[in-house]
Amino acid sequence: MAVQLALRDIRKSFPVKTGRVDVLGGLSFDIYERDFVSIIGPSGCGKTTVFNVIAGLLEPDEGEIEYRGERVDGLRGKVGYMMQRDLLLPWRTVLQNVLIGPELAKMPLGEARDMAMEYLNTYGLAGFENAYPRMLSGGMRQRVALIRTLINDPDIILLDEPFSALDYQTRLYLEGVLMEAVETFNKTVVLVTHDIDEAVALSKRVVVLGGRPSHVKKIYDIDINARTPIGARSDPNFAGYFHALCGELDIQTEVA
Ligand SMILES: Nc1ncnc2c1ncn2[C@@H]1O[C@H](COP(=O)(O)OP(=O)(O)OP(=O)(O)O)[C@@H](O)[C@H]1O
Ligand SMILES: [Mg+2]
Repeated sequence: MAVQLALRDIRKSFPVKTGRVDVLGGLSFDIYERDFVSIIGPSGCGKTTVFNVIAGLLEPDEGEIEYRGERVDGLRGKVGYMMQRDLLLPWRTVLQNVLIGPELAKMPLGEARDMAMEYLNTYGLAGFENAYPRMLSGGMRQRVALIRTLINDPDIILLDEPFSALDYQTRLYLEGVLMEAVETFNKTVVLVTHDIDEAVALSKRVVVLGGRPSHVKKIYDIDINARTPIGARSDPNFAGYFHALCGELDIQTEVA
């Protein structure tokens, strides 16, 4: 399998009152072409920081990033990044928010609008295209932010807790939509989630971060070939991975 994105010994610290706090302590892992990798780890371990480094929004103190074998300073322009906070522009409607990327890319407006409306329909937002972000629920805003990321058709998609504000039913539905889209359009996805169940159901591989400063504790290959999120959760291998990953995060799964 060809490596698409490689992180090599990435270190990052931030200034605090008493000096500096080391957050990433030499992080290395590879992401393959058409991979689906989830990153899990305790709150505050640096998952969002890794994404900011990959996206080129933060410079690492040390370490290298390679994209298809070439050293780069971050993947600005190559990645679609759905941030943990949705960052919709409050003065733009849903449709106008979704069209930011196509506008910047100078895509023909009619074509972009048709595509946007199709996405809004698939993601259960038909009829809300002229609403403003303040009029939407948290889950609806999250869906708009996801569409805004996908519509630009990036090579690599970084999703930071994209489904956290959704009810379970909508989450399952959108997990399915994402799985299908990734499969159809040959995308590479890196997903940060606190939901182990979701990481196992969607991913080909799961990267576990831990320690302070954090490093890659373990990488699991997930041998589940289901085509839907529910199918994956019903796979005979699902429970084994789920328990192993709970163990990695020190979550007790046995009732005493
Ligand atoms: N710009 C910054 N300045 C100072 N400290 C920061 C900055 N960004 C992140 N940190 C610190 O780095 C650590 C990791 O933050 P990060 O947001 O990457 O964690 P996370 O794993 O995404 O957590 P969560 O699961 O809660 O989203 C935290 O201790 C945070 O306070
Ligand atoms: Mg985070």
